[in-house]
Amino acid sequence: MNILLIGGGGREHALCWKLAQSPDVGKIFAAPGNPGMASIAESVSLDISNHDAVTAFCAAHDIALVVIGPEAPLVDGLADSMAAADIPVFGPSAKAAQLEGSKGFTKDMCTRANIPTAAYVRTYNLAEARAALAEFDLPVVIKADGLAAGKGVIIAQTAQEADEAVAHMFAGGFGDAGAEVVIEEFMTGEEVSFFALTDGHSVVPLASAQDHKRVGDGDTGPNTGGMGAYSPAPVLTDELQEQVMQRIIHPTVKAMRNADMPYSGVLYAGLILTEEGPKLIEYNCRFGDPECQVLMMRLQDDLAALLLATAKGELATQTAPAFADQTALTIVMAAKGYPATPEKGGAINGLTAVQRNNVTIFHAGTKMVDGQLVANGGRVLNVTAMGDTINAARTAAYATVESVDFPSGFYRNDIGWREMERQKTH
Ligand code: AMP
Ligand code: GLY
Repeated sequence: MNILLIGGGGREHALCWKLAQSPDVGKIFAAPGNPGMASIAESVSLDISNHDAVTAFCAAHDIALVVIGPEAPLVDGLADSMAAADIPVFGPSAKAAQLEGSKGFTKDMCTRANIPTAAYVRTYNLAEARAALAEFDLPVVIKADGLAAGKGVIIAQTAQEADEAVAHMFAGGFGDAGAEVVIEEFMTGEEVSFFALTDGHSVVPLASAQDHKRVGDGDTGPNTGGMGAYSPAPVLTDELQEQVMQRIIHPTVKAMRNADMPYSGVLYAGLILTEEGPKLIEYNCRFGDPECQVLMMRLQDDLAALLLATAKGELATQTAPAFADQTALTIVMAAKGYPATPEKGGAINGLTAVQRNNVTIFHAGTKMVDGQLVANGGRVLNVTAMGDTINAARTAAYATVESVDFPSGFYRNDIGWREMERQKTH
């Protein structure tokens, strides 16, 4: 079967790499794709906001499955348009994608389904927000309701900071995303991500991972899309994972079905492990980036078969996906200046020379200019290694990172530190 993959980041390179290993996959088209995928996919320039053009492309190229990587086209209803044209699509409908697109929507769903999460109030103007703030202890969490490129969350330590945050949001500081503001109780605990596939009825667990959101070593500096990840994250023990499945994932799938917006695709749960057990911070309606890279390295089953079964509502026919017992760890090499002002155009050389067993370099923001590979975005490369232990994976990944010739790049030196610390103290 031929596949159309939407997106061009490190997440999509990892999906493409894994899809290409499936015996049933014919041609993969990636819109727009990136140079890392060039040997396994044909890059196509498609305006993905033009759903008729995407439908026509699928008809012309005998596409049997559309895989949507990022959240924006999902929130924009691309999956609905594919479904209307009878093209199997991996990714939720626009309505179901509200799980990521609206924090207030998700909180209300949690209330209805009795899913453990932080106490909250949805507010629609400054006066309501100020009144709500008076009810919460400090620190307090303030969130723009809509998609805000990962920047719409403020953890206010003082009443003044909280007031300024809500005033900024209602003054349009985050555009339409801030027309509603959710005020939340601050939860304490370690964060971990968990992924599951669902077709709206059946649910299969995938795996856990831990991201590193801050730009600097020791979790310092501004938030980013993620500077590195590893999987599994042993802090989410088998017992805790089962709790997450029973108390969070299954009730979500059921609540979405009951609300007449069945969720189909990957559920990416951002969790916090509190003293009272795992609680939901938020959902994303797509794979994490760079968490997807480590999940794909560990996945031992046929990704195309899994995604197609999800798309067709036939997940019940699949056996639970198997993951290698090994640890996968990925280090993001970013362009200097990221996340505020990443330097574009920096040359990257010698990638083939540094290739070694058990290490895969996924491309994120790269492009070819006159035969030279250059940086073309904030996060540029994801150097991803497998090892019998997190230490082995980390050593292999850093050895490769250090020999990549990318003078205008930088990376964190401490990916995996929480798990390394834990192992030292046990
Ligand atoms: P989000 O953009 O929703 O991923 O939130 C960004 C980060 O804010 C999360 O990864 C958490 O570190 C933090 N956060 C969000 N909500 C809460 C909460 N209720 N309690 C504590 N931390 C939170
Ligand atoms: N790495 C965080 C995310 O994909 O949202």
